Amino acid sequence: MTDRLIIFDTTLRDGEQSPGASMTKEEKLRIAKQLERLRVDVIEAGFAASSNGDFEAVRSIATAVKDSTVCSLARANDRDIGRAAEALEPARSKRIHTFIATSPLHMEKKLRMTPDQVFEQAKLAVRFARQFTDNVEFSPEDGYRSEPDFLCRVLEAVIAEGATTINIPDTVGYAVPELYGEFLRNLRARIPNSDKAVWSVHCHNDLGMAVANSLAGVMIGGARQVECTINGLGERAGNCSLEEVVMAVRTRRDFFGLDVGVDTTQIVPASKLVSGITGFPVQPNKAVVGANAFAHASGIHQDGVLKARDTYEIMRAEDVGWSANKIVLGKLSGRNAFKQRVHDLAIPIDSETELNAAFARFKELADRKSEIFDEDIQALFSDEAVTPHDEHFKLISMAQHSETGERPHATVVLSVGHQELRAESDGNGPVDATLRAIESQVKSGSELLLYSVNAITTGTESQGEVTVRLARAGRIVNGVGADPDIIAASAKAYVNALNKLYTTAERLNPQTSMTP
Ligand code: KIV
Ligand code: ZN
Repeated sequence: MTDRLIIFDTTLRDGEQSPGASMTKEEKLRIAKQLERLRVDVIEAGFAASSNGDFEAVRSIATAVKDSTVCSLARANDRDIGRAAEALEPARSKRIHTFIATSPLHMEKKLRMTPDQVFEQAKLAVRFARQFTDNVEFSPEDGYRSEPDFLCRVLEAVIAEGATTINIPDTVGYAVPELYGEFLRNLRARIPNSDKAVWSVHCHNDLGMAVANSLAGVMIGGARQVECTINGLGERAGNCSLEEVVMAVRTRRDFFGLDVGVDTTQIVPASKLVSGITGFPVQPNKAVVGANAFAHASGIHQDGVLKARDTYEIMRAEDVGWSANKIVLGKLSGRNAFKQRVHDLAIPIDSETELNAAFARFKELADRKSEIFDEDIQALFSDEAVTPHDEHFKLISMAQHSETGERPHATVVLSVGHQELRAESDGNGPVDATLRAIESQVKSGSELLLYSVNAITTGTESQGEVTVRLARAGRIVNGVGADPDIIAASAKAYVNALNKLYTTAERLNPQTSMTP
């Protein structure tokens, strides 16, 4: 047994299955490059057979990424496995991850297959996948709720067929740590060829125990691969969070005795990139990557930290990528200083044009805000990441009137295609009036599922970051906007979401077309 823990990131596959988190190929590629910088061992880039768009995304990630293994999910059938193999063809190091459900409930109600049929299909799938690569992972979906005797039979057979990683999903987040750990330990003990494969954990967070279950699978069950996502992104309550599991193993190396290859200073940049692209804000008290994770508000704590850091800090903020130098730039800062700061923050820049566009946005912001913090700079790039280049709707100007005792009123000027339109509306508040005014012209008919505002930094001068989630005709999208004026941030977020609803760029979300 090795003392190395393999970090398998599935932000781009399982994470993308969160409602509204679907990404374009370019967005997926951008995240994949950051995951490579983070030095994760395996990037699950998507589900190649689910759509042509996802196939292309997996293929472009397989072409671009050199230092991590690139993986595609595939159901246990020849077509899916063939598509995965084709998409992964350019990869320097590749893995096919095939799965089929093994719990009585899933086999009977979802697959409508007998256990014997599932057994045969699992074996054939691994045998077929091995024709393309010697790196094959097998997952018995809903594995934790499967009957242990049957699971042992299936897993022994797929290892004999050449599966090199065996992953035990707690698909519905039902496990508790000790039981999940023991479940894995028993499987490993009972299966005669279990030592021929690396064992892996894949836990969902429905009961808030995904990280604890994963770590129990490692410590009690002997797993040496953890499947996880940045910010714990994933459908329902999400997946095991990469940053939490990695920092737990690093910080408590005395207990876990395991090494991880991740460059932890890339964690916060990865978190911000994923949050900006998907429009899923990170809660302020989220471990490791939340804005308050290293803030000591209480007087007693502040005093302790000033005297000796380790009185209240078990990790150093800079070790996970928070920058120690908070106030960085202002109105008089030039392009070189801006470029240097972007570099220090490890923000990925693909071209000088991208840098110039971000610098122009920085200058605009610095005219309205005297101190520009690292978080503001990161938000400038999130804005860039979420703004499609073929914007159909653009916000040109806006004004609101709000006075005690009067119903707020908003006026908005928008460009829609090549046309400039003016809209007005009343509303419960100035934000409501502004979004209603936009909607009165666009007539998207979408439903607003979520509206949230978050201050990017401290103080009333802070930029507000707004997320809106819209649903229309079965599609769900998230829009994000940041501005020191929260009504403007709200309008930007709404327009951003509308552009995603109307854009021609294919947003990839396997869940809408083919649920694994
Ligand atoms: O949760 C799950 O069961 C999965 C499998 C497809 C690995 O995501
Ligand atoms: Zn999953």
